[in-house]
Amino acid sequence: MEKITIAIDGYSSTGKSTVAKQLAKALGYLYVDSGAMYRAITLFALRNECKENNSINKEKLIALLQEVSLEFKYNEQKGYGEIYLNNENVEGEIRNMEVSELVSKVSAIPEVREKLVAIQKDLGHSKGVVMDGRDIGTVVFPDAELKVFMTASPATRAARRYKELLEKGEEVTYSEILKNVEERDYIDSHREISPLRRAEDAVPFDNSDMGLLEQFERIHNFATQIIDKKKNAQ
Ligand code: DC
Repeated sequence: MEKITIAIDGYSSTGKSTVAKQLAKALGYLYVDSGAMYRAITLFALRNECKENNSINKEKLIALLQEVSLEFKYNEQKGYGEIYLNNENVEGEIRNMEVSELVSKVSAIPEVREKLVAIQKDLGHSKGVVMDGRDIGTVVFPDAELKVFMTASPATRAARRYKELLEKGEEVTYSEILKNVEERDYIDSHREISPLRRAEDAVPFDNSDMGLLEQFERIHNFATQIIDKKKNAQ
């Protein structure tokens, strides 16, 4: 079957990874969570004492970057690849608040982006990939056949994230999460390199009032239409 590249970008906690995983499963494609890669480098930075006064010591982290190896290994039970930092599964640890609070600063460092974009391009070189992130449709795969740009109000997104973290047993408050969502929106869309923005040819998709099934069906429909068109053009 004709394979395409699917780029799902958008603000944090808009449900990008949920729909990207569903799509990859339905189409038999590879799913890549690019945010997990930025989070894993942030965890590495924390472990290597690159955090100083609530900020990041860029020079120290850049000097250590060559020691970072990232890999996705497929988890049969979960049905997607989990992220490994230097051969250690860090999927659980990268979602905590400490990482969330620093990740936008780490992902604004050009050397970090350069390293990760190269790995991402490589993962998608033979198409048949669904990747979610912030710059997938603009920088990583500017030629992706399907680009979706997901949005939802900050309050909706904070409520989703709050529920998720409570279920995991993290002690957090809603206002702390809302603040983190708004801060990350600001930093992600105002950084100098590869800021979060909708690619001109990306479909805007606001899911504030949409259930998961409807969201999946709509985006899956976009994908199958493109795949069918490609097939018929052959
Ligand atoms: O999708 P996420 O919330 O797990 O992403 C974590 C952070 O990583 C996010 O605040 C911005 C950054 N990121 C990025 O800069 N570029 C990407 N392609 C993916 C994530």
